[in-house]
Formats: sequence, structure tokens, C-alpha cells
Amino acid sequence: MDDLRKADVIIVGSGIAALQLAVHISRHSHVIILTKSKMQQSNSFLAQGGIAAALGENDHPASHYQDTIEAGRNVNSHRAVWQLTEEAPGIIQELMYWKCQFDYDEEGNLQLGREGAHRHARIIHGGGDQTGRKIVESLVKNLRSNIQIFEEESVYELLIQKDGSCYGVRSKSKGGDVYNILAPHVVLATGGCGQLYSFTSNAQEVTGDGIALAYWAGATVKDMEYVQFHPTLLFNDGKAQGLISEAVRGAGARLVDEGGSYLMDGVHPSRDLAPRHIVAQTIFNSIEKGRPVYLDVSSIANFDRKFPSAARLCTQFGVKEKIPVAPGCHFLMGGVETDHVGRTNVPGLYAIGEVACTGVHGANRLASNSLLEGLVYGRRLAQHLSVQDRLPFFPGIPTPADPSSPPPLKLPVKEEIQRTMMNRVGIVRNEDSLKDQLSWIDSFEIDKWVAADFSHLTKTQWEVVSMLQTSWLITTAALERTESRGGHYRSDFPIENKAWEKHHLTKTLEKRIA
Ligand code: SIN
Repeated sequence: MDDLRKADVIIVGSGIAALQLAVHISRHSHVIILTKSKMQQSNSFLAQGGIAAALGENDHPASHYQDTIEAGRNVNSHRAVWQLTEEAPGIIQELMYWKCQFDYDEEGNLQLGREGAHRHARIIHGGGDQTGRKIVESLVKNLRSNIQIFEEESVYELLIQKDGSCYGVRSKSKGGDVYNILAPHVVLATGGCGQLYSFTSNAQEVTGDGIALAYWAGATVKDMEYVQFHPTLLFNDGKAQGLISEAVRGAGARLVDEGGSYLMDGVHPSRDLAPRHIVAQTIFNSIEKGRPVYLDVSSIANFDRKFPSAARLCTQFGVKEKIPVAPGCHFLMGGVETDHVGRTNVPGLYAIGEVACTGVHGANRLASNSLLEGLVYGRRLAQHLSVQDRLPFFPGIPTPADPSSPPPLKLPVKEEIQRTMMNRVGIVRNEDSLKDQLSWIDSFEIDKWVAADFSHLTKTQWEVVSMLQTSWLITTAALERTESRGGHYRSDFPIENKAWEKHHLTKTLEKRIA
């Protein structure tokens, strides 16, 4: 018999969105957090750059709003962008109240850094380039004792009642024990899917699980073709080895070719601080032509002190001053469609942070808006849930897993997915490459999985299943959108097409009843 647990709110994931929600909601509710690895193994913890907020003397949320829409190529949800940018200064004040260790100047004012496509210096950071870590640490310190945290436990199914609402999850511990966990509110805060690509800045854990879970439960996914590639990952031995923050370019570093010529001169008026997709595509094209690209940091005084994470990475790979770089997958703008408080179309199921698609980022996310998104929507969902009427919650006992629906037998290894996605659905796509990838994914018969029992899969097999499903969602959307916009670049349709503006691609599956 599977073990049964109950809570008011289940949170799947342990990044900044999850922790922000937990900090705010646990005053009223019994919360269970489930994370498939350790609490601190998240993209949030790795995040370097910072959080954008209009706090500078001549800055204003309206200017932050405008920059966010321009980076997003005007397909953002204007309402969501306004929520994000208007609430940003208050979010920073709240974190300061919780004693988050941000960086201050000699006069005791918050240091405001510059990053690409921002017209003002408005990036708040901590520990130089360790902002994510500083925020996670401050949130964890403020967690209450009525939160139960289960580490190394993978959620592999959402429980859906006959009326189509979500009433819990099925999970499997590292030791192989299966649990049914019931709650009237189930929140996905699982991050994006950077590990679908062989070059990525993302943590090992970020394999698209939340998107696959939600899709199989009948939730709508949206804008999946918009994948952001960060321009500067340290490139060594043919592999991307880790992020060199955009804040480094904000502090004056320049992209150069082997002969020292500036790569971005003449490409965009903002040169090295142009929107990410433009810088990433320029570096990609240069490398494709056999011309390596470097980030020259020699003009930055006290580089090691200002950017300790980047400096550590350089030391690890024996690199100095001219850092070889290549772009890698960084962020998914699309995801599980939600409203302004994190509700999906499946009652009882919510999504916050990168797994969600509020539409706030449009076709391309502005630098340092991702930690902000997690904090804004984590808090918004907490506020929403805390004013909900407490209806009695009497879910049925979940039916046991169906032994007549075995899991898929044939699965690729992770590296095959990563290599093929990078080559065919990466920074540059076209009809041929996308069709090749789609027929490769279809060869694993993923359409049959919706009714399969995944309880016998290992964690790695489950991740591969999620990766394939999420890859399918990205590839089909990328094939459908016959234009280029933001993070979605088609070499066979290289320009933005006005007719596609405001047209969003969504996918919804028949609901699964457990
Ligand atoms: C970076 O530090 O360059 C990444 C920050 C972000 O993605 O906004």
C-alpha cells in the first residue's frame, strides 16, 4: 500500500519562487516542499547577475516596464510586466527587511549594476555575483517550522479528480518508496528545462519535469518556442563549463575576436549590452565560421573581488583576462500558462517562476528579471491563497497505479536529447532541422505515455521522459512559428513578421484522471 500524506499546500521545487511562497504562506498553512535533489541545488542558487528594480535616482518602474517589453519583442502580457516592474522596489525592501546580504557602496546605498538592454543601472546584487545564493539563504532563514521539506523525492504524477481538479501528487523517494500526497493546492515551482541542451547554464536538476507533469494533467502550455540562450558561458575543451554573468559586460568587459577586434561594434547600438538573443546569435555565427570569441575582462579593476563566481570558474579552467565564451541555453520564456496569481486552467494546480508562463517575458527575457519573477509571483500566489475560503477538503483515495499501463520501454540517454536539441532546435532552427528532431522524438511513442504508470522508473528514466515530452513541446511550437522573434530564430524565416505579433502558440492535452 502506498503511503499517504496530507498538507494545505504542496510545493514542488525549492528555488526562489518556491521559497518565497513558502515564507509567505506558512503563517496560515501547513506546507510540504518536495525537491528531487537537495534544497540548494537549483538554478536560483546559481544565479549570479541580480534582481532588476527601478531604484535609481532618475529611474522609474515605467522605464523598467518599457525595457522589459522591448526585450520581449512586444509579445509580453502588458499587465504582467506592469505587476513585475511596479512591485520590484517593494520586493527589494522586503528582502532587506529579511536581512538579505546585498552589496552597498561606501555611502551605504545599494549598488546598482548595469546589464544588457536596461536603459538605467538598476541591478541589485549580493556577494558580487552570488545574488541567487544570498536571496536563497535569507529566505531559508525565514522559513517557519510548520513546513515539511522532503529532499531527494521526485514527483512523477499529478493526481486529478473526476471533475478535472488537481488534489495532490505521487512521488518517489530516493529509496524507492512511493507516496500519495494530498492537498487542495498543488504548486509547481520546478524551474525551466535548460538541461534539454548540451550547452547550458542550468543546474543538473532542470529537466522540464514540471512542464511535462502539468501538460499530462491537462494544463495548457504556451510560448514554448521561446528559449533564451545566454551569450557568455565559459567555453573549454569543446564544452560550456559555466556562466560568466552579463554583469561582467555591464562592468565594462568587451567581446573580442582572436585579433582583439570588438565583436559587437556595428551590430547593435548598445554593442556588448544589446539584447541577449542578438549577442548570442552574433557569437554563435562567429564560432560557426571557425572564429572563436573571447570576453576581455582586462579593463575591470578587482575582477576577482567583484565577480568571485566567475573568477573561480576561470581559475578552475586556467583562463585569465581573455575568457573563451560560447552561448548556451539559459531560460525558457514559455511554460505552463498562468494568470496574474499563478493559477493554471486546472483547478487546484498553480505554477510560479520559470516553469510558468504569465507572458511577462514575451519572446525574450530581460536580464535580471527572472529572480524578480519568482519573488513577485511567489508572493502574489501566497496572497491569493491566504484569502481563499477554506472549503472542506475530502479528496477520494487515489487509485493505485495501473499495472496494465507499463512505462515506455525504449528511452534515449540524456546526452542524445541534449545533443540533438542543441543541433536542431538551438540558437538557429529551420524547418528541416525541426522536422528531423520531431520524427526522432516521435520514434519514442511519447503520445502513449499519458496513461502510463511511471512508478517503476528510476529518477534518471523519469527525467528522460520529462525531457522528451518538453522537447516535443518546444520543437512543435518552433515548427509552427514561421517567423523569428526574440529567443526563437528560424534561418528560413529570419525576420519578425507583424502578422505573428500577439499570436501565441498553446497546447493542451485531454485531462488525465487518476
Ligand atoms: C547573468 O548573470 O548574466 C544572468 C542573469 C539573468 O539571467 O538575468
